[in-house]
Amino acid sequence: MATNVATIQTLKKDSKDEGDLKFDQVFDQNAPFSAQIEHLVRSDRHLSITRAGKAPGLNPGPDPEGLKILPEAAKKRLVEGGVDISKGYPQVPDRAKIPVFVDEAYAIRNEDYPYIERGANADPEKKSLFSAAKSVTNLTKHIGTEVTGLQLKDLTDKQKDELALLVEQRGVVFFRNQKLPPKVQRDLGDYWGQVEVHPQTAQVPGLPGITVIWMDYFRQKGLDINYKNNNFGNFDIVKFGSNGTQIWHTDLVHEHQPAGITHLHLDSIPDVGGDTIWASGYAAYDKLSEEFKKFLDGKKAVYVSAHSYLDRDDPLGGLKKVERIHPLVRTHPATGWKFLFVNRSMTKRIVGLTPVESDLILNYLFDVYEKNADVQVRWNWKSDPGYGTSAIWDNRSTQHKSVWDHEGIEARHGTRVTSLAEVPFFDPKSKSQREALGLPISQEN
Ligand SMILES: [Fe+2]
Repeated sequence: MATNVATIQTLKKDSKDEGDLKFDQVFDQNAPFSAQIEHLVRSDRHLSITRAGKAPGLNPGPDPEGLKILPEAAKKRLVEGGVDISKGYPQVPDRAKIPVFVDEAYAIRNEDYPYIERGANADPEKKSLFSAAKSVTNLTKHIGTEVTGLQLKDLTDKQKDELALLVEQRGVVFFRNQKLPPKVQRDLGDYWGQVEVHPQTAQVPGLPGITVIWMDYFRQKGLDINYKNNNFGNFDIVKFGSNGTQIWHTDLVHEHQPAGITHLHLDSIPDVGGDTIWASGYAAYDKLSEEFKKFLDGKKAVYVSAHSYLDRDDPLGGLKKVERIHPLVRTHPATGWKFLFVNRSMTKRIVGLTPVESDLILNYLFDVYEKNADVQVRWNWKSDPGYGTSAIWDNRSTQHKSVWDHEGIEARHGTRVTSLAEVPFFDPKSKSQREALGLPISQEN
């Protein structure tokens, strides 16, 4: 123990950075070691838990500097939507409320809570939604639908139910030319499930649960990314090897009740680029042979959090993730279809297999999602001037990744709301999408 404390003293005592602790003033050397570590992590700018990956540490509270670089279109939307940005933007989380130790992070929402599956209550023909729309266009066979002629802020509850079902069947649904106040976006999220309030990410001031998606902000605050090294969101660049884009992932898979419907609204969109790609887990599952499906059905896997924490009993033992076990093949509560629930970033291993077997199979399953263009859709967010674009996706049965080709030179700003869903389950009687839709199942492999 004494050695560990001495190590920290060595780490801190010569620092000239004003953001660092003055060790002797703040450490009670009689306090438990984990308490000293917690104090260090909460107080130090470089060890700051408000960082995400390589992002710079930020001061908690509304950021006046961020306000200076906020795109005009975003500012207009926020002010017109009644958001008070007079003290700054975005709202950087309070470090005192961010978990330091993995047991604290694991305890968040670690119990069943009520979830109403809105899509299950919807009219399967979606007459209310479709009759109000000008057009409903499937963008590819397996994933992605664009709806025009509707304003999301005007939807009735019946239309919200039908939209949930459409999202859950088609994976992702897009709406251009929207006027969407942030509060209305959160209300929509509240309707579809418990809105996740992210403890680590910047939020819209006064509206917890609305996460700010604004990589340009982090870049302008000092995050060292460019077109060669943009691997933000990748946990291990050597292992996953992806430059220039985010890695494929599904959000919040480590939760007891992981993400259901997620809604990203971009109000500031680059002239060219800044696209996002989604892939269908229903279609990925249907790519597998019938024999392999049988092998995978009922298997479970370990899923990890995006963020890392410390082990209270071994705080210098390295970073730890929250780990949670879920079915590898899930049944969707609204569509009843089976889908492949894996992603390269956050599926760690298949329960019951040797590490070699697990790696081999998981890497193949990741490839099925990532390498088959026919299960994917790529979306360009462009809207008419003065409007924003919404993408609403099923964050269970899909993966996604953003494409950072605009290099943060043109503004790309948006707000995201995620509604958490059911405890994941696998129903052995459930069917694949192709089976349920009566499409031919190839027996040739
Ligand atoms: Fe994501």
